[in-house]
Amino acid sequence: QTVDWDADDTGKSGYDHYMLKEIHEQPSSLRQCLRGRVNELQGSVTLEELDAVVEQEFASPVQFVACGTSYHAALYAASLLQQEETPATATIASEFTTDRVPVNDGSLVVGITQSGETADTLRALREANRAGATTLAVTNTVGSSAARAADHALYIRAGPEIGVAATKTFASQQLALLLLSVALTGRSSHDDIQSLRRVPDQVQTILDTSSARAIAAELVDSQAFFFIGRGMHHPVALEGALKFKEITYEHAEGFAAGELKHGPLALVTEDTPVFAIVTGDGGTARKTISNIKEVEARDAPVVVVTDGVSDVERYADHVLRIPETDECSAAVLANVQLQLIAYWVANEMGRSIDKPRNLAKSVTVE
Ligand code: G6P
Repeated sequence: QTVDWDADDTGKSGYDHYMLKEIHEQPSSLRQCLRGRVNELQGSVTLEELDAVVEQEFASPVQFVACGTSYHAALYAASLLQQEETPATATIASEFTTDRVPVNDGSLVVGITQSGETADTLRALREANRAGATTLAVTNTVGSSAARAADHALYIRAGPEIGVAATKTFASQQLALLLLSVALTGRSSHDDIQSLRRVPDQVQTILDTSSARAIAAELVDSQAFFFIGRGMHHPVALEGALKFKEITYEHAEGFAAGELKHGPLALVTEDTPVFAIVTGDGGTARKTISNIKEVEARDAPVVVVTDGVSDVERYADHVLRIPETDECSAAVLANVQLQLIAYWVANEMGRSIDKPRNLAKSVTVE
């Protein structure tokens, strides 16, 4: 008896694509990210490598810089700090210059780059160094150019990622940035730490129960795909759309839910499914539900990613369920459902999922 064997498939552990394997590795890569860094009893986070940064006082807003998926992690990180009344900004690295944004020896500039080799992000970090800022690289790659260029490094510990479309590295960036925000602001309750610790198991629950494959099969022939979210879920909507366009080659766009009515609504028809992220039942959720009603009135198929706390499912054609938790952790969970949607639509279309056309895993030119 012989076995068909392809050298390219050896690392896939039985999955059809590295991307799906890496999506399924998230519970364990997220556990690695947390290991030794959270103390449930004290309700605290320890990032030993960053003691010096955490103790420093910064005069200006914390500035996150990054590209692509990592830029979405930067937006998420800035929201985390802003929520704790610590001023923060997120800038696309190729748009970052110290002439336009004041950077000096009272600044903290954080470059987020999974590869640690993205030219735009490296240039931004080096420019920040020259302006006297304290610099920090949040990266997956020990010894990378970013880790060497910055004064400090925070490793996300996601393990190697082969698929060009970033999946597990994004989730680990989110979790590492959650840890960083707790360390920088010094604000965390026992409950916050507990929700952090639950994230890996909750991701496993999503992987075990997701209805993304069936929903993907129903919506695959649509004309365009829109993603909306508010607050912490805005960067998740942007990332959901980016992942989707990278591997399906279909038109996908992410919007702040409140922006839909200021233009994009003109694009919404019965052929354009809208994916909406709604968790909890506070003001943010209620406002996004109003935006969903506007979409529903245009007969667009509505897919909600929700924890089931609000009544949003009444307005949905399809539901992607996530476990109940706080909004910051929910942003990690919701993204996993959108990774699966992108994957299963691309798979249905027979796309080159691990090596999408025209894209490279890391881009070393500006
Ligand atoms: C490339 C990849 C993207 C990635 C971006 C930033 O464009 O195709 O998936 O998000 O680079 O990569 P980095 O390694 O800096 O996170």
